[in-house]
This record gives sequence, C-alpha cells and structure tokens, in this order.
Amino acid sequence: MPNISHHPDETPVISYRFGKGAANIDVYLSLSGYESVRKCLAMEPDAIINEMKASGLRGRGGAGFPTGMKWSFVPKQSAKPKYVLVNGDESEPGTCKDRLIFEHDPHSIIEGVIIAGLAIGAKQGFIYLRGEYRYLLLIMEKAIADAYAKGFLGKNIFGSGVDFDILSHTGAGAYEVGEESALMESLEGKRGVPRIRPPFPAVVGLYGGPTVINNAETIATVPHIFRIGGAEYAKLGSERNGGTRLFCISGHVKRPGVYELPMGYNLKKMIYEVAGGIEGDSEGRTLKAVVPGGSSTPCLLPEEIDIGMDFDQVGKAGSMLGSGGVVVLNDQTCMVEFALRTMKFYQHESCGWCIPCREGTDWLKKTLTRFHAGGGVAEDIDNIRYLAENMMGRTFCPLGDAAAMPTIGFIKKFRNEFEDHLNGKPCPYAKVAERELVGA
Ligand SMILES: Cc1cc2nc3c(=O)[nH]c(=O)nc-3n(C[C@H](O)[C@H](O)[C@H](O)COP(=O)(O)O)c2cc1C
Ligand code: SF4
Repeated sequence: MPNISHHPDETPVISYRFGKGAANIDVYLSLSGYESVRKCLAMEPDAIINEMKASGLRGRGGAGFPTGMKWSFVPKQSAKPKYVLVNGDESEPGTCKDRLIFEHDPHSIIEGVIIAGLAIGAKQGFIYLRGEYRYLLLIMEKAIADAYAKGFLGKNIFGSGVDFDILSHTGAGAYEVGEESALMESLEGKRGVPRIRPPFPAVVGLYGGPTVINNAETIATVPHIFRIGGAEYAKLGSERNGGTRLFCISGHVKRPGVYELPMGYNLKKMIYEVAGGIEGDSEGRTLKAVVPGGSSTPCLLPEEIDIGMDFDQVGKAGSMLGSGGVVVLNDQTCMVEFALRTMKFYQHESCGWCIPCREGTDWLKKTLTRFHAGGGVAEDIDNIRYLAENMMGRTFCPLGDAAAMPTIGFIKKFRNEFEDHLNGKPCPYAKVAERELVGA
C-alpha cells in the first residue's frame, strides 16, 4: 500500500496524471498543467470562489466543510498578510491518498495553492508534510524550485504582475499536528498543541493573519475544477457532495489500494467489486465490520454497508466519511483487539494538553489491554463505554472525540465479543491477537 490501483468504475479526475511522470514540470505542462491558474489570473476573486461553490467540493481532510464557503469567510481587507496552508499531515490510520498526489502530481498542489491565494488575496502559501513524508518533501521541493525557474512562482508570476511564494515544511511525526490549529502552532516553530477557537483560522490563523487551510487532496482538486468547470465537476458526485475522491481501501480485501470514485459510490460495491471482495472468501472468510473513513469513524456492520459513500449518507448510517480510509475486517478479527489497537494509537498520539483526552485514552488503553488479556470483569464493559462517553465533547480538540467515538461503537455493536473475553476466557481469535499484544 498504496499502489496505483485501477478499476473500470474509477473516474480519474485527481488521479488523471498518476503514473504519467507528471512530477516533471514539462510533463505536467503537456497534460494541461498550469492552465487553470492562467484562467484564474484573469478572473475576479469572487468569481473564483463562486466557481468553487458551484463545484460542491467539500474538504477531504475529514470534516467535509464546503471549500468555496471556507474561502469566502476570509476578510477581503486585512492589516496582516493572508496565507494559504496545505495540510499534508495525513496521519489518520487507514489513509494513504495524499502521498500519491505528492508523489505523482506535486504541481497540482502548487497550482491549487496559487488559485486559493488569488481567491483570498494571499501572496504566500505553505505546504506542510507529515514528518514521515521526508521522501515526498524532496519531490515537492523540486517541483517548487522548477515552478520558480519557469516564473510560475515568485515575482510577477506568469507575467501577470502578481507575486506569489510557496514554502514547504515537515513536522516531526505527530498525528495531532494534522489538526489545523496545532499545525499552525507547529509551523510557527512552537509545540504542536491546538489553539482555542474562535477565532477561526479564516480570520486569525497563521502568524495571526487570515488563513485558508485545506487538505492536500482538496487543494489538488482545485485546478481540476477549473479544468472541467465547477458545475461539471459537481455532477460527477452525489447531491451536496460534488465530484470524486480518492478512497483508500485496506484490510481484508483482495485488491487493497487507492481508487478514485464518484462521491456517493456504494460502499458494498466498493468492497465486493472494486476491491475484489473479502480475502480468503473461498476458505469461508466473511465480512465482519467496516471502518468507513479512517480510524476515528465508528465501524459499520455488514448489513449497514449498502450506502452511498458521501458525507451525508455515511452520517445518516451513524458514522462518518472522514478521510476516506476504508478498513475492511473479516470474521477472524477480534474486535476487542481492534479496539485496543485503535486506542493504543490515540493514547500515543494524544498531545497531553487536556485531561479528559490525556487520562481518558490512557485509562482506556490500560483497561482494554487487561480485558483482552483475559483479566476483565463484567463491569469493565460499561466502564469502557462510560469513560469514552465522558470524553465526548469535553476535550480541547476533536482528537478526544476521535478516540471515544469508535470505542463507543465497538461496545454497542460487538458487546458479545467483549463478553466472550470475560473472566479469564482466552481470546476466541487468539491466532490473530497473539501477534500484536505482547507488551501492549
Ligand atoms: C486530531 C486531528 C487530526 C487531523 N489530521 C488531519 C490530517 O492529517 N490531514 C488533514 O487534511 N486534516 C486533518 N485534520 C482536519 C483538519 O483539522 C482540518 O479540518 C482540515 O485540514 C481542513 O481541510 P479541508 O477543509 O480541506 O478538509 C485533523 C483533525 C484532527 C482533529
Ligand atoms: S483532545 Fe486535548 S490532549 Fe487530546 S490531542 Fe486534543 S488538546 Fe491534546
């Protein structure tokens, strides 16, 4: 993972240059590269924002906030400089799409940043990559240098009289700096902990200036919207969910990979047709659960997956589309172990700033570790749920919710599996579980 995967149902918009060597600026230019920004240089900022609104694009970082609307919140006049910030922290388990864009189409990110800058009146963009993506930083830095050399960045870009600069930067490998305000703290050289909001970044963001912060996929989609037109882009998706997105399908499927599919594509079809179905089905393996949008989204049962994959439909089904990371689990998965593994991640990644998250994730990890190892008592099950429910909405940033939500879902939907582990009973799925739990 992640491979460039192919399926006939794919609609290659964002991925249309993948595998074609478009990290090379001349190849990018030969594939309609930098045409959208030239168009936008001749447009009024409001017209750019209106085209974005018409596209129905909703942020691909997780929350699904409409991108055009986000850009329109930036004040037109500002005493402080404005900024465009690309969130390439991509740390949500199950998510591995932004890295394909950085690797195969870095200029689409540069082009998207400049267009966002034209829309909000910024002259400086930043591209923030997760610490583990240093190898992608080299690709990104080369692309930026090539864009400067061609006069697409710097003073008087494209001979238009407009100046625009971009800097790239990596974090030190922390999930929490994917949260937008923690990312800005980190970029300013401080400890990566979140800021209190309001004020929101559109008004007071990086270095106190109005800032648009968007996910890397969101930004890379922008030039394509101007290539094919906002209304046409919107039509590719479902109602109120314009376009396509890169879905990352991993876990117990025959063909894991990153697939670009229309928003609203059926989840069942995605698993059984696009990803080839459940691995080992000929030996009797069946589907047990699906995490639809990255580790922080509550899991769905097999009878709940006949739904369209867009923000609204997955929300209606009791989960979230999140970052588009679909994790498929077969019948041999121990859901207690899965809950523990998930919590180990959140406990490790909690920044420690607020007590409900710092202590809550640690208690949950310790309780789940003891429980899975056979040291559980009946009261633990409700205590785990009670602990998680008491974290919800009581933490400084949404990482606390991200840890609590899936945990509540595991107890609600797999209480029987928790009961199977009670009072010294060995894990019924020991073969899978033994691999990971030593020293948890
Ligand atoms: C704990 C936490 C981690 C996050 N990690 C990421 C991330 O890795 N990448 C990302 O784009 N957004 C991440 N987000 C969401 C950002 O805060 C923000 O909403 C997003 O970058 C906005 O971009 P969009 O509107 O294009 O989705 C995270 C949020 C939280 C609370
Ligand atoms: S919820 Fe609190 S401790 Fe957890 S990551 Fe956010 S600020 Fe840090």
